[in-house]
Amino acid sequence: MKQKICDTDSLDELSCREFTVQSAATEKDAFLIYVNQQCYAYENSCPHTGVNLNWQKEQFFSLDGLFLQCSLHGALFEPETGFCVRGPCQGQRLKSINIINEDGALYVAE
Ligand code: FES
Repeated sequence: MKQKICDTDSLDELSCREFTVQSAATEKDAFLIYVNQQCYAYENSCPHTGVNLNWQKEQFFSLDGLFLQCSLHGALFEPETGFCVRGPCQGQRLKSINIINEDGALYVAE
């Protein structure tokens, strides 16, 4: 069954949506962001320790809105690539999640 994340028209610049990726054996926390009119989705797991990145619901961006930021030790990630540019996991990446846009809604790609 397709896993819906949200309707595309519910997204504004720098919007974030948390969701869960479900498979037969696992559930993974994940999030979607909307930046520069593009959507990107990643597992919500910092490469440093594996904790969720956000400290508040649907808050993933740094204060200047330029990067995704881990709330625990402040690692900064490029929104478009998930690449860590600064922090204890510099050079590593968030795991991306494939999404599809169908009929005005975003889904986890199967
Ligand atoms: S847990 Fe994310 S930077 Fe340390």
